[in-house]
Amino acid sequence: MGTVSSPVSTLGWDWDRVPGLPRTHYLDNRMYTDEALFNDEKEKIFKAQWKFACHESEVPKPGSYRVINVADTEVAIIRGADNTLRAFLNICPHRGAKLLRDVQGTIKGDRTTCFYHHWTFTTAGQCTTIPLPQGYSNEAINADNVHLKAVNLASLHGLIFVNLSSSPSQTLKDFLGSAMDQIQAPLSDLEVFHYHRVLVKANWKLFVETNCEGYHELLHLLNRTTALSQPAYLKRKWLLHPNGHHTFQPANIAYNKLKLGDRGTDTLNGMTPNMHIVTDIFPDVMINVRSTVVRIDSLIPVEPGLTILECRGLGPKSDTETQRRARVKQHNQVWGPMGRNLPEDIWAIETQWANMTAHEYPYSLVAREDNDQATDDSPVRSFYAKWQELTGVSSFDIHTPFNNGAAHEQ
Ligand code: FES
Ligand SMILES: [Fe+2]
Repeated sequence: MGTVSSPVSTLGWDWDRVPGLPRTHYLDNRMYTDEALFNDEKEKIFKAQWKFACHESEVPKPGSYRVINVADTEVAIIRGADNTLRAFLNICPHRGAKLLRDVQGTIKGDRTTCFYHHWTFTTAGQCTTIPLPQGYSNEAINADNVHLKAVNLASLHGLIFVNLSSSPSQTLKDFLGSAMDQIQAPLSDLEVFHYHRVLVKANWKLFVETNCEGYHELLHLLNRTTALSQPAYLKRKWLLHPNGHHTFQPANIAYNKLKLGDRGTDTLNGMTPNMHIVTDIFPDVMINVRSTVVRIDSLIPVEPGLTILECRGLGPKSDTETQRRARVKQHNQVWGPMGRNLPEDIWAIETQWANMTAHEYPYSLVAREDNDQATDDSPVRSFYAKWQELTGVSSFDIHTPFNNGAAHEQ
């Protein structure tokens, strides 16, 4: 007779029991798959908070526009004829057609016309023409009092954010606090030179988590060889800021260990050769600065198990052709579609997602404590502290309303 294995673990690890940890140190995995919670996240997090939209260089001249997606809602970022940046819902007030049909472009002569019934608007959102006006006897419908719906917009260090709330609870500056201070210098006078999107078959929070801890560097050949291999790397500190933002303090990367060449020439403002810093902006943005190049990753949640990842590479506007070529190469070594890191992160989280949907794995552990150093899970816990506050749901049990005082109970 063959061997029969017992379903009861003899190793002391009970998969189905609630972990004997503080409630901040494990996650209820239903948070990734629950449809109602996903819809709540779109309303309470993505639409009610400041959300990274694009870089100012994507709307460089009067009339330039960029259409973005915030939790299913299209928002048009338009640089007006007066050079002012404004944001509007990309919805025609007449009958809801899409006003700007390209993702990016230029409005000529300060007028854009809806393709459906030809209502026309300025870059400041004011309607100027309603064709065939004789049908409107109602005084309320004339061009003078029709306008696009404005969306709150603010920018800092070249990064444009929008907030779809009718009355944001904080200014962008208050929301970010000092989280962007360490990248203020390298972000100066940049332009986007690289953009691509990745369709990720996983919940958006799984990608955020990879950006909030420094010990999955083990996954990445590049990071474990050029970063984790250095003894000082493990002492690298995370600074946890209010509102769920984090900054990973500077470290030097040994690119030569993989024969990738030093990053000692044409370093960005405030960066020293081979220096690396990371800034996570709640809820979905990771800004990586690798001495010569900036990379901004942000997310569009589509379904609980489908996320669009937007990837931007940036360098100085003043680059010569030769400098830009070198910078693009350095960007692509780490972050290009065929680069080293991105496919590995996506591979990892897509396997997580596949297992979350099987509902056989109830809790994830975020229990490392290491003085906020590289192997600490404290940035993940800080993300979920803000997530709980906004969703009103407990991360340790999505069917328990969030109660701040109970977070440390076991
Ligand atoms: S929907 Fe735009 S003009 Fe009618
Ligand atoms: Fe990673």
